[in-house]
Amino acid sequence: MNMQAFSIKQLLSTPPTSQEVVINGWVKAFRSNRFIALNDGSTINNIQCVVDFEQFDENLLKQINTGAALKISGHLVESQGRGQSVEIQVKDLFVHGGANPETYPIQPKKHSMEFLREQAHLRIRTNTFSAVMRVRSALAFAIHQYFNHNGFYYFHAPIITGSDAEGAGEMFRVTTLDPVTPPLTDTGKINYKEDFFGKETNLTVSGQLEAEAYAMALGKVYTFGPTFRAENSNTSRHLAEFWMIEPEMAFYDLPANMDLAEDFIKSVIVYILEHCREDLEFLQQRLLDEEKTKPTAERSEMALIDKLRFVVDNQFKRVSYTEAIDILRDSAPNKKKKFQFHIDEWGADLQSEHERFLVEKHFKCPVILFDYPAKIKAFYMRLNEDGKTVRAMDILFPGIGEIVGGSQREERLEVLKEKIAALDIDEKELWWYLDLRKFGTAVHSGFGLGFERLVLFATGMGNIRDVIPFPRTPQNAEF
Ligand code: 4AD
Ligand code: MG
Repeated sequence: MNMQAFSIKQLLSTPPTSQEVVINGWVKAFRSNRFIALNDGSTINNIQCVVDFEQFDENLLKQINTGAALKISGHLVESQGRGQSVEIQVKDLFVHGGANPETYPIQPKKHSMEFLREQAHLRIRTNTFSAVMRVRSALAFAIHQYFNHNGFYYFHAPIITGSDAEGAGEMFRVTTLDPVTPPLTDTGKINYKEDFFGKETNLTVSGQLEAEAYAMALGKVYTFGPTFRAENSNTSRHLAEFWMIEPEMAFYDLPANMDLAEDFIKSVIVYILEHCREDLEFLQQRLLDEEKTKPTAERSEMALIDKLRFVVDNQFKRVSYTEAIDILRDSAPNKKKKFQFHIDEWGADLQSEHERFLVEKHFKCPVILFDYPAKIKAFYMRLNEDGKTVRAMDILFPGIGEIVGGSQREERLEVLKEKIAALDIDEKELWWYLDLRKFGTAVHSGFGLGFERLVLFATGMGNIRDVIPFPRTPQNAEF
């Protein structure tokens, strides 16, 4: 290597003094056998490279198709054209690898999201996906930074577990037993004692239970890792493999938990507003173009960046489940039987249509719902004095529905034991979790933020499959 290669992001903000520079990247477009728009992923913007075609061999120029990888050296000069401040006058050109226009799937035209999902290994070369994934990366960084600045320790929960933290039975089994002739017990059941771990194991649905153990010693911890759910949900909000951030704090009650969640979400959105401006502007424009094709009534009232600012600048509305049920019962869509799931009684589980009504039509801002009926929530949530509600909280976002689920945890051994027994869970399976209530128990709380739902909101994308690099959903694990 003779000269250090620059990133296009660096070059675009470098004053042009005709200095010689080297860059690598992929061709976005090649116009008039003269102008190469080159991109290297460092920014949404391309750098224009101007070729004097008389200087180069015709066969070489023929290889400069969309998608080809090039190394270019030349002089950085003030741009003659509009739309960019600098450009490169090409002196040397090397083709790392061409891309045959007959077979390269990503041509410079609009492709459908469905088509691009089938090309997940190449879709990242489009402006939309590169912008989304840069924002995703920035959000991940902002999350670690937030917790790091606020006295939390990053805790790594195990991926393989023997427990079902959410008690929903939606787990992927982990086994090395032969599926055709597994060892059997006397009663004809599969004998997991002979399995790799000597017991039934699965991929984790949540790192919460283990995070509680760590919070009860380190004070404030958070997980940020992959979680797995074998729920057969073919929606634009569900993945079988998704990333979750789960803070867990000793000595926090539910209001303190809500304060943290709200501050945390606002802070990471501020981070991308400050650091991902160009990508967000691109995504905002993309959304505006898409909206133009929709009927006026379905168009969103706010542009993407205004929507992000709105979340940062306004307090989340805190509403109890009981108040929410009253609002929903009396709402126009409920009375006109427009909800798929009609609300008539206290105790009903809220579906995403109800959550979105509350957020988008009624309150018109993010909402924190709390104190849910014990019956529709997980076993570990703290029972209220009324004996029928638990200290749960869900945060609901416009366009998304539930983005956070959390609670104050049941710290009283006897109450927890009763709840476990009532749900027919074997106490022995949770012996270590119960130990946390036997030794130095204390009020504690936490929540889980679905990372892809946050990225969905932040980028204005319409489907969760388009904000994770290689989505896993029912019947789909290509790549
Ligand atoms: O509400 P959930 O199930 O809560 C828990 O797992 C708790 N153990 C968290 C805790 O208190 N530490 O999941 C938390 C969040 C949801 O609000 C949602 O944003 C996301 O995880 N989520 C999913 N995201 C994508 N695909 C799925 N199938 C998801 N299921 C949950
Ligand atoms: Mg939930």
